[in-house]
Amino acid sequence: MKKQALGKTIDLFPPYLFMDLDKRRKTAVKNGQDVISLAVGDPDLPTPASVARFAAKEVLKPSNHRYPEGRGTARLRQAIAAWHKKRHGIDLDPETEILALIGSKEGLAHLPFALIDRGATALLPDPCYPAYKTGLLLSGARIKRLPLSENRGFLPDLDSLPGSFFKGAKLLFLNYPNNPTGAAADLKFYAKAVAAAKKHGFWIAQDAAYSEVFFGKPSPSILQVPGAKDVAVEVYSLSKTYCMTGWRLAWMIGNPEAVAALAKLKENLDSGQFNAIQETAVFCLENHDRLATPIREIFRKRADFFTDVLEKAGWDVFRPGATFFVWAKPPARIGSLNCVYRVLEEASVLITPGSGFGPRGEGYVRFSLTAPEKRIREAAARIARMKWKV
Ligand SMILES: Cc1ncc(COP(=O)(O)O)c(C=O)c1O
Repeated sequence: MKKQALGKTIDLFPPYLFMDLDKRRKTAVKNGQDVISLAVGDPDLPTPASVARFAAKEVLKPSNHRYPEGRGTARLRQAIAAWHKKRHGIDLDPETEILALIGSKEGLAHLPFALIDRGATALLPDPCYPAYKTGLLLSGARIKRLPLSENRGFLPDLDSLPGSFFKGAKLLFLNYPNNPTGAAADLKFYAKAVAAAKKHGFWIAQDAAYSEVFFGKPSPSILQVPGAKDVAVEVYSLSKTYCMTGWRLAWMIGNPEAVAALAKLKENLDSGQFNAIQETAVFCLENHDRLATPIREIFRKRADFFTDVLEKAGWDVFRPGATFFVWAKPPARIGSLNCVYRVLEEASVLITPGSGFGPRGEGYVRFSLTAPEKRIREAAARIARMKWKV
């Protein structure tokens, strides 16, 4: 029998970073190590019980069992508009400026198909969350890396880049609060980004998946910048806000043409998210403060003590303004991957190499504080005991 060949598209992708790391974790466990994983950005905390109870009732309702409404139920879109009005003071038309997604990863990865042509240039922050690249590779976009550096708080220096840098650019991905660095952005930065997008003619896709895990002032929305809706869309998610990564519900807000384009693509691709989950999202948004505040406080406490311990142990830590990530350089100048291997071998703690988020992540590693507090304290203590000088 002739052996079937696979298509070439799949070769565009390296094995997903976390899968490779997970393989190493399994081997270490097999070898008897008590491995603590601080690698994957998936909260250990369960979804609040009141949310799960509400959802259970919704699941039993036959009215929720049919194909969902494509753009999201009217109730969900109204609840999203009301939430943003209260949280950011922005007005959104539920009919034209809001679209439900099956998680922000899905929406962000599909977005390039809706917004730009094959061969168009897209600006990709370096380092950044890998899913933006997935969509860009599949849609045939040309990727140009936009450097983020620590001395600018991991915000791109849009003012000092020459005009030629933006030539031909049609789409810019932003992500604040930021994975992997934990950086937060303010409205002044978003105003600069919107001005650059208008000047050079590109769309902005701002990923706000970590919008509610902030430690200082509440993170603003890019749509608070006057006129931002002309050029920007922004994506929000239940995943991190309410510890609901497995439930798969997010939404995009902003420019109505961009919203309509992604809605059209999705009508042809998927059939939306289960109505019971959409109803549950309404419950979450209507009970936001009660649900999100305790979760945020847990992550704040974890970030405080973890960064303190690492700093005392000689690590060069970028103190996170938001998210549950800690981005740091080890006490010895070794590459990201070597650092990850050493930490796994000597401390039995699994972390993520910064180089997995782009070339500028080299030298850094990312800690995800998504394990029970006792385990995070144990991980910090083990790492602090490591001897880096050879
Ligand atoms: C920056 C960023 N955006 C989006 C996502 C995906 O979130 P969702 O669960 O909404 O797909 C993640 C998940 O880790 C993330 O880190």
